[in-house]
Amino acid sequence: MDTVVSGIRSTGNLHLGNYFGAIKNFLKMQKENNCYFFIADYHALTTHPKPDDLHGNIKQVLAEYLACGIDPEIATVFIQSDVPEVSELYLLLNMNAYVGELERTTSFKEIIRKQPDNINAGLLTYPVLMAADIMVHKANKVPVGKDQEQHLEMTRKFARRFNMMYGVNYFPEPDAYNFGKELVKIPGLDGTGKMGKSEGNGIFLADSPAEIRKKVMRAVTDSGPTSLNQELSEPLKNLFTIMSVVSESSTIQYFRDKYSSCEIRYGDLKKQLGEDIIKFTDPIRERINEFLMDDKYLSKIVEKGAEKARISASKTIREAREIIGYKKFI
Ligand code: TRP
Repeated sequence: MDTVVSGIRSTGNLHLGNYFGAIKNFLKMQKENNCYFFIADYHALTTHPKPDDLHGNIKQVLAEYLACGIDPEIATVFIQSDVPEVSELYLLLNMNAYVGELERTTSFKEIIRKQPDNINAGLLTYPVLMAADIMVHKANKVPVGKDQEQHLEMTRKFARRFNMMYGVNYFPEPDAYNFGKELVKIPGLDGTGKMGKSEGNGIFLADSPAEIRKKVMRAVTDSGPTSLNQELSEPLKNLFTIMSVVSESSTIQYFRDKYSSCEIRYGDLKKQLGEDIIKFTDPIRERINEFLMDDKYLSKIVEKGAEKARISASKTIREAREIIGYKKFI
């Protein structure tokens, strides 16, 4: 059985991009693998959340994981900060992570641009913490979206470096995992780029039908096709991409044909897209709200999850310490 680790940062509600980029793969993997799915709440600290927001977001993502169908009876579902072993491995790995390579990471360069007033060391070493999350369970498969590929590459590098340095074959080199073509990058509704939590372009799993209708009706389009079989502009391509994950293929075909023949009415397309999204998210939203009201159940899940995750993590820490040279005198 392969070991799978993945997590999502608890910085806000999960959106369609999180579902189709990551969670859908979690669901497919949970039965056949030894899975660890966690809430990356240490990673969430890089943006300095207020304590109540941090706490609320952890709970929200937990309820959302469960509502999506992650089964805590099969997978180990836990909160990153409940497993302090990960911070020890992070410390150990930091000694062999070079500032130069961390500074060259695309996500770091992007964040410097986005939040120039808060370029903290945690951001620089973000990929090291992520590597620790994965390596502490000696995972070999990591289901993540396309934007995480470089972080996975770095994880492999850190694992290889550790093995080389100590002449062992201890840490596996994990692969980013997805089910081939099904891994789609879900775009936002603002005409360009991917769906994000803070870009104001996303549809959240917890959004009410009214909110979803409003957001979709406001989505960016263009001024309409002017010649037969015209290529789709980026905003339109984006709407069709979202359609491709929530709508029936006959619906998609219908609107593609209407576009090709220049008869499309974007209002109709949006109305349909909104309803199809709601059909998908509505049952999830209802379950999210049920889980959110059941604090006792949520506590039980994460306690059990932490216990299981700590068994695996503490074994790795014990062995890694020994390899490094931290051992008893007798
Ligand atoms: N960096 C990931 C993201 O932003 C979240 C994450 C943290 C993660 N640690 C991980 C994903 C370990 C997979 C494995 O989405």
